[in-house]
Amino acid sequence: MNGIDVHGMRLRLRELAPGDEPGVLAIYGDREATRHLSFEPRSAEEVAGVVAGAVRSAGAEPRVEYVLAAVPHDAPEDIVGITRLATEPQRAATIGFALRPDSWGQGFGTEVVHLLCALGFGQLGLHRIWAARSPLNTASAETLRKAGMTEDGRIRDHVHVRGAWRDSIFHAILEHEWKSPWGSDSPRITHFAWGEIDAEGLARHKDLKVYPGGGRAWDWNETGTRHSPGVQVADVAEFAERGCEVVVLTRGVDLRLEVPDATVGFLRAKGIDVLVSDTASAITEYNRLVAEGRAVGGLFHTTC
Ligand SMILES: CC(C)(COP(=O)(O)OP(=O)(O)OC[C@H]1O[C@@H](n2cnc3c(N)ncnc32)[C@H](O)[C@@H]1OP(=O)(O)O)[C@@H](O)C(=O)NCCC(=O)NCCS
Repeated sequence: MNGIDVHGMRLRLRELAPGDEPGVLAIYGDREATRHLSFEPRSAEEVAGVVAGAVRSAGAEPRVEYVLAAVPHDAPEDIVGITRLATEPQRAATIGFALRPDSWGQGFGTEVVHLLCALGFGQLGLHRIWAARSPLNTASAETLRKAGMTEDGRIRDHVHVRGAWRDSIFHAILEHEWKSPWGSDSPRITHFAWGEIDAEGLARHKDLKVYPGGGRAWDWNETGTRHSPGVQVADVAEFAERGCEVVVLTRGVDLRLEVPDATVGFLRAKGIDVLVSDTASAITEYNRLVAEGRAVGGLFHTTC
């Protein structure tokens, strides 16, 4: 899976790219940030290798490593954290994360672990995610605990670092144990532009279907949908199964996508309220319903 982009409340995880080296160096080159890690502060040259390796591993097929930058929604250049998820056999993965010291103590660490779980459980279909930390790394222990991970034991002489063998304490979480901090609420839409839409905890898509507890790409090929005759019953049937009380349907930016009466009638017959409008207005309305805590579904088309 390529082009990873996972959204949380304040941060998103995005792919690393050439040009990110100074942002990575501010973390991997920092003595405080690396104090408990399995490597010593890295040089600019080593960090350039990390970024190049991240870009390479993103293009590998199959992909087993996801080295991602944690950035604020509104400042994608501002790297506040570096994260890594590496998949293993048996639907497992190990994660690692480090934040820039000036961003510590604001809940970003916990959010980053949740975002890695959203990626692993929500998008990669993993069963188990684990992390290893230094026995002295209290901040990491508390962060992993707060994100819902259980301390599972000690690996003796796990890493050789700073001239000596060091044990690790490992923590793990299983797919059914992870509770998204976004709860069973419908995910809020955080960004929309022509051809792209983001929602909390989900990857970026062109067309998106969201409902209480999650969402996924809305793939027109699944149902053979076209602009005309438009959104079919097959596109919306899932909303009833997912317990929606209200559904927002978009007609696209230029209202080219049709919404037949039969589709609206199908939902209303199941006691579900239906709102139909252009994409921008629909997003405003949808987010308002989310804020009110309504069990809302949405079908978003981001082009004409
Ligand atoms: C570990 C790290 C990511 C935590 O990030 P953070 O944004 O400060 O963490 P949060 O703000 O989400 O805090 C999560 C919990 O940990 C606690 N915590 C954070 N730092 C702590 C510290 N130094 N000592 C004790 N508890 C600490 C917080 O109080 C919070 O618990 P609470 O809400 O019950 O009070 C950050 O310190 C870091 O990047 N360290 C260097 C790299 C590293 O050690 N990575 C982990 C490798 S396994």
